[in-house]
Amino acid sequence: MSDRKATLSIDGIDEAIELPIYSGTIGPDVVDVGALTSKGMFTYDPGFVSTAACESQITFIDGGKGTLLHRGYPIDQLANQSDYLETCYLLLYGELPSAEEKETFVTTITNHTMVHAQLATFFNGFRRDAHPMAIMCGVVGALSAFYHDSLDINDAKHREIAAHRLIAKMPTLAAMVYKYNIGQPFMYPDNSMDYAENFLHMMFGNPCEPSNVSPVLAKAMDRIFILHADHEQNASTSTVRLAGSSGANPFACIAAGIAALWGPSHGGANEAVLEMLEEIGDVYHIDEYVARAKDKNDPFRLMGFGHRVYKNFDPRAKVMKESADEVLAELGIENDPLLAIAKRLEEIALEDEYFIEKKLYPNVDFYSGIILKAMGIPTSMFTVIFAVGRTVGWIAHWHEMISGSYRIGRPRQLYTGYAQRDFTPMDER
Ligand code: SDX
Repeated sequence: MSDRKATLSIDGIDEAIELPIYSGTIGPDVVDVGALTSKGMFTYDPGFVSTAACESQITFIDGGKGTLLHRGYPIDQLANQSDYLETCYLLLYGELPSAEEKETFVTTITNHTMVHAQLATFFNGFRRDAHPMAIMCGVVGALSAFYHDSLDINDAKHREIAAHRLIAKMPTLAAMVYKYNIGQPFMYPDNSMDYAENFLHMMFGNPCEPSNVSPVLAKAMDRIFILHADHEQNASTSTVRLAGSSGANPFACIAAGIAALWGPSHGGANEAVLEMLEEIGDVYHIDEYVARAKDKNDPFRLMGFGHRVYKNFDPRAKVMKESADEVLAELGIENDPLLAIAKRLEEIALEDEYFIEKKLYPNVDFYSGIILKAMGIPTSMFTVIFAVGRTVGWIAHWHEMISGSYRIGRPRQLYTGYAQRDFTPMDER
């Protein structure tokens, strides 16, 4: 922390206020505005556009340069040289594991992939056609019922076991959601498989024959998990931190994160991108939709475009686009119509003054859906896949907060309602 200060002079207050400025390792400095409350004032920042809600060492984003670092390592290097569980270890413990540490971690996660048999009965309360994210909110929250009494969030070992359980069980639960939707029996995890392969086994396998998971698709799935692993203080991660700041158990906090992720402005965008591409239908209709996206009177937005932080390309979208080409080629899908529309839409948008001026580029959700659809995953499951990948980020931030000094999150407001007034009896209304 530096000894630099910001001096704020406020009309009507004689003395200027000195506010400390703190610098991080890299990235913008911050102004500590805590002293404002003693002057009877709050800051005002709807949507937290310019608010640093916490200190963190997990992920750094430079929106101007299109940089995304996990514990200092660039996302494209992790996507091309690491794997998802190794990235989980990095996010949780801060360093890449040694070969021995990685083997122990993978074994630990693998041994937690099963869920309590009683949990399977929770699914029966849902309609078969319930949205997968609705079921995920329910069953992940229900994990609390199985561990709440044995979990002391102030015990570092308990926190670590909760993190391992969540990372391990999310693919199992996600696959159960899909199987429930299509009326097929749940598949047990096969612990001889690696993480992404096991997930595809539980999604597309059946008890009547051995699974045959394509190594290329398993690698693509693993890479999609890496690209979704963490992203600083986004809406769902901030939700997990806020829920966790009250002392709620981590399973309930992750369920809160899943709920926040569901929205089409956030993780729900991958599902919305596919629906948009299918609605556009072919490249000849693109101009009409681009015009609608620019029309202030039309609520339509180009889903998969724009980002609160990235005002340049989203580095994840670049890797995802490369992966889309590889997966479609592997599957022998030539000239996928949706990919053709997506690529042409990207070309048109990136040359359009409106998108250039507003710095709207494809984000992580723009290409992911094309890969997932090509892999046979239904559109309604896309955000569930995002939640599986993001669980490690959520729990790493929760662990970082609970391990340090923190206070319950409790924002204030600018009140514009009635000043105090007396109750009006019925006969005077
Ligand atoms: C994710 O935060 C994260 O890190 C999220 C995420 C993660 O990994 O956790 O990266 C994952 O959520 C990616 C974003 C997925 N969402 C979408 O693709 C939905 C479409 N995009 C938008 O709705 C929007 O761009 C947001 C929500 C992503 C960002 O919203 P902001 O930062 O609040 O920006 P804004 O809505 O104020 O838009 C600024 C301007 C507006 O025009 P003006 O009012 O200034 O005239 O840009 C326009 C918007 O109308 N705009 C768009 C647009 N996105 C913004 N216009 C058309 N199409 C779009 N997609």
